[in-house]
This record gives sequence, C-alpha cells and structure tokens, in this order.
Amino acid sequence: MSTQASGLAVETAGLVKTFGETKAVDGVDLAVPAGTVYGLLGPNGAGKTTTVKMLATLLRPDGGEAHVFGHDVVREADEVRGRVSLTGQYASVDEDLTGTENLVLLGRLLGYGKKAARDRAGQLLETFGLTDAAAKQVKHYSGGMRRRIDIAASILSTPDLLFLDEPTTGLDPRSRNQVWDIVRAVVAQGTTVLLTTQYLDEADQLASRIAVIDKGRVIAEGTKGELKASVGAGSVHLRLRNPDQRPEAQQMLRTVMAAEVQLEPDPVALTARLAAEAIDTAADQSARALGELARAGITVDSFSLGQPSLDEVFLALTGHDTKDEVAA
Ligand SMILES: Nc1ncnc2c1ncn2[C@@H]1O[C@H](COP(=O)(O)OP(=O)(O)OP(=O)(O)O)[C@@H](O)[C@H]1O
Ligand SMILES: [Mg+2]
Repeated sequence: MSTQASGLAVETAGLVKTFGETKAVDGVDLAVPAGTVYGLLGPNGAGKTTTVKMLATLLRPDGGEAHVFGHDVVREADEVRGRVSLTGQYASVDEDLTGTENLVLLGRLLGYGKKAARDRAGQLLETFGLTDAAAKQVKHYSGGMRRRIDIAASILSTPDLLFLDEPTTGLDPRSRNQVWDIVRAVVAQGTTVLLTTQYLDEADQLASRIAVIDKGRVIAEGTKGELKASVGAGSVHLRLRNPDQRPEAQQMLRTVMAAEVQLEPDPVALTARLAAEAIDTAADQSARALGELARAGITVDSFSLGQPSLDEVFLALTGHDTKDEVAA
C-alpha cells in the first residue's frame, strides 16, 4: 500500500480481531487523510477501542492489514510506535504524581533534558488551563482536568498521529468544550487525530470525515455532509394548537412537501422528513406548507426546520438507536 504517497495517515484493509466467539473487528477498511480529525463513531462494543489498539500496535490483528504512515503495524511496529500516541483508557499518567511531576517524568522518558522537560511541562499545563493544578496530585483532579492532563501527556512530543479514545465520555459540557478546543489546537499543529466517540455531536464538531462502526463493521463512511445526505435533508417539526386537526395537517404536509410525515407521541406534534433532493428547497417548501395550513384554518403553535442530527443518521443506517434506547 502506498500510504505515504497517498497522504493517508491510516489505511486498513479487511482488518479483523476476534476474541473467542466475538468478532470485535470484522473486516474494517479505513482511509484516514493526514492532517485531519477522523471520527470513528459507534455505540458500546462496536469495536472502536479494539481497532485503535491494533493501529497503535497494542493488539495484533487476526486478519487484514493496517498501515500507519505507510508502515505495517505488525511488521514495522517500531516505526509505527515512533509516530503515534494514544490517550483514553490507556493513558500513562500516574495518579499519585502531580501534574507537573507527570509531565516532567514523561518528558524525561522521551529524552528531554531536565530543563527542557520542565519548560515543556509548564507550557502544556498553561495551554491546557492546568497551571493552578500543576502541584496537585492527579488523583485529586476533576474528570475534565484528568482528561486534559491525559491529552497533555500524549502530546508531550508532538505525535504525527494521536489516538483519542472517547476523550470526553462522562465530561460536563464545559469540560467537553475545553477538550474540543485542545483537539482543534492539536490538529492545527499538523497532528492527525483518530477520534473514537459515541457522541454524534462530537464527531460532527471535530471530524472532517466519519466512519460509523457497528458490531465490528463500518456501516457508513464519508464527510458529515455525505452521511447526512444519505439519510435526508432534515426534518420539519410542527406543533399544532388543536390535536383534532393533526390528521388533516399530516395529509396536507404529505402533499405539499412530498415528505414522509410522522405523528409524534405528543398529540399535537408531527414531523416531516425531507428527502435528500429537498436539501436546497427545504425552506421554500416549509413556507408553502405553512401557508397552506393557515389557509385551511390550522393553527401552528411552533415550527422548526432542522438539519438531520447524526443520531438520525445512525438510526437510519442501523435501524436502532445509538444506545438502543427509544428516544422520548
Ligand atoms: N480483551 C478482550 N477480550 C474479550 N472480548 C473483548 C476484549 N476486548 C474487547 N472485547 C469485545 O469486543 C467487542 C468490541 O469491544 P471494543 O472495546 O473494541 O468496543 P468499543 O467500540 O471500544 O466500545 P466502548 O464504546 O464501550 O468503549 C465487545 O464485544 C467487547 O466485549
Ligand atoms: Mg472503547
């Protein structure tokens, strides 16, 4: 595979990993362009961590091939290790050490001199908003601080490829935003990021391309726009004043918008799903529909036109919710 020449940071073909009866990774093909954030999106047990571990040379594939910057992860594992860094469930920070101590220690392990290690540690702690916590033991950090020190540790020496395995799982919105900013900064420095996430909005925020993975297989791949286009142009949500008028409204919307119209559990709510071809005319169609409803004496209390969420994308692709729960 001519990964180097093709500008790919990661290229896999038919990657397989089996644990006993479980096909954790079942023939995964990936092509991750260098210099981008690539999202590996999937629910619990989809095979995200297993894929990342094979790419990071921590697990040996049972089948297929994987190259990182042109290097085979099995035959050229040392070259691969020299260019990647992993954070997530396998971060190397020591809970009993302070933030500074951790970063200095890791810097020394990476071959920095004493002063250079201290300088780099100070710089990273500042960048990551951890200066005030620099002298605290990591075990006393909050979840968000912990995640930031994990990422700081993994970019002590700027890796060419950084694996971020669910970097914001369990974080509050503010901490998530901080981690997202860090990821953007890391990419701006030229590092490629392979991000695994269960959060559709996270992939949407950060990734240029997304592979949706379910039960060890890639079920869809493309830019965010492509994924959304494969599902539809979005939805129009309406709430009526009078629930008795809902069947009539449903019929009208079907005709005017040429859309599939669903009745929601809320007796006054309905949703029209727009076809992909309607992506440019959605606003016009909505305006026409509202006009028709008004003429028929149907009062609309609220109206919104929304782009499809990645949740809807996942539902459309897999036929089940990302968390196998029924949305309220
Ligand atoms: N060491 C192991 N031994 C046995 N089974 C494993 C092992 N590691 C993973 N699995 C199984 O392989 C499948 C994929 O797991 P993996 O951890 O890759 O999923 P994931 O997408 O990272 O999920 P999560 O979002 O929960 O982290 C799961 O069914 C899991 O139980
Ligand atoms: Mg995982």
